[in-house]
Amino acid sequence: MKFHPFAASLPLLLLSTGPGATAAIQFQLPAGIRAHLPAFIRNFGSSTSSTPSPLLTLHEDLVSIPSVTGNETAVARFLADYLTAHNFTVETQHVSDGLEGERFNVFAYLGKERSTHMLITSHLDTVPPFIPYSSSRNTIYGRGSNDAKGSVAAQITAVEELIKEDLLHEGDISLLYVVGEETTGDGMKAANNLRVQPWKSVIFGEPTENKLAVGHKGILMFDVIAKGKASHSGYPHLGVNANSHLIQALAVLDNLELPASKLLGASTLNVGRMEGGVAYNVIPAFAKAKILVRVAADLEETIKALKESVKDLPVELEFTEVAYGPVELDYDVKGFETIVCAYGTDVANLHGEHKKYLYGPGSILTAHGENEFILKSDLTEAVAGYKKLIKHSMRAVPVKEAPAAVTENKVEEEKTVDSVVESETVGPIVDTEL
Ligand SMILES: *[C@@H]1O[C@H](CO)[C@@H](O)[C@H](O)[C@H]1NC(C)=O
Ligand SMILES: *[C@@H]1O[C@H](CO)[C@@H](O)[C@H](O)[C@H]1NC(C)=O
Repeated sequence: MKFHPFAASLPLLLLSTGPGATAAIQFQLPAGIRAHLPAFIRNFGSSTSSTPSPLLTLHEDLVSIPSVTGNETAVARFLADYLTAHNFTVETQHVSDGLEGERFNVFAYLGKERSTHMLITSHLDTVPPFIPYSSSRNTIYGRGSNDAKGSVAAQITAVEELIKEDLLHEGDISLLYVVGEETTGDGMKAANNLRVQPWKSVIFGEPTENKLAVGHKGILMFDVIAKGKASHSGYPHLGVNANSHLIQALAVLDNLELPASKLLGASTLNVGRMEGGVAYNVIPAFAKAKILVRVAADLEETIKALKESVKDLPVELEFTEVAYGPVELDYDVKGFETIVCAYGTDVANLHGEHKKYLYGPGSILTAHGENEFILKSDLTEAVAGYKKLIKHSMRAVPVKEAPAAVTENKVEEEKTVDSVVESETVGPIVDTEL
């Protein structure tokens, strides 16, 4: 893993010239002056006259830059420049080559101390397709407005406010914005090589409706492969039908009861894609299905149950590298509602014994949809929530405090949600996209 201290390149200031349009103009000002440039300068020329808050301006800039997984270079470059201009020390961490240049994580901290008490982190990539930024009085639309650029903008705003309030100093906090969360987590996996002392706590930003997540399910992806022998469909006894084998196996897997957990409820299995055969009149020699399991209980036990269920059938299971068990989170902070999530995050990809908090504005239910949006009021509330979590983490409680009282969830159950599982200890589990 190689680092490129950001100092080498001149910071850019981004001038927002209206929704959707972002033009880069190069300024050559000393860092000290740049750090004091007020937000409205970055917004001059904007058609909407009243000065937007630094929070909304940063959020707009981030959402306006397309950053579908694999193509995060421009947004990461923007954020590195932004943080440099705001007096953070910024390192970029190479992850891989991307569509339009290097894909890199952005790692930032105050002064010279790279090893900090705590880390605050989220991701810069989005699912496809890109949806341009737009806004109405209370709501902001656009790809990533919710997942997870809402978290990114609120986290940075919270940190900057606490610095201004003299509550955060060099060595207290670092910020990490990674690529690749929506697919393999390669950005966060690379962050394990940052070579810093272990953090005491890490705050992860993902849409949790501004509630503190108590845990989320794991993920397991695998293929079911059926091999047969091609022949003329008029003489089926001369061939072996791979589709028939696959259908048999899928019937078993689709009805399989997998290990469950008290906290996270049932593991769920989705036959996401099937392919097999060539034509009406050919006995197919090959068939395959892609399956994803939301893992609520032990990963190894789950894999064992899957293998066991089809062991007498003529198929093979091929497990992919995407495989992790359920994630337990910390929620020992008073004043938050709690939530159980059924989606995957980068939490499991960052190794270490740190406390893990998962919190952010917006609902996962709209995160990957055509109508991805976030309420402006939720962004503002998230800044307050992150400040509370940071202050709590700064107090460095070595012994775990008694967990916050678990309050009833008020998740609006939308019609698009296909399965909602009641859990004994916490509110409803909302099953949704990755
Ligand atoms: C990649 O990102 C750049 C910058 O955000 C954008 O202009 C471009 O359209 C994106 N390319 C694709 C194929 O999405
Ligand atoms: C920038 O950060 C350094 C180190 O933390 C600090 O000494 C300096 O006062 C800061 N400058 C501005 C303009 O905030």
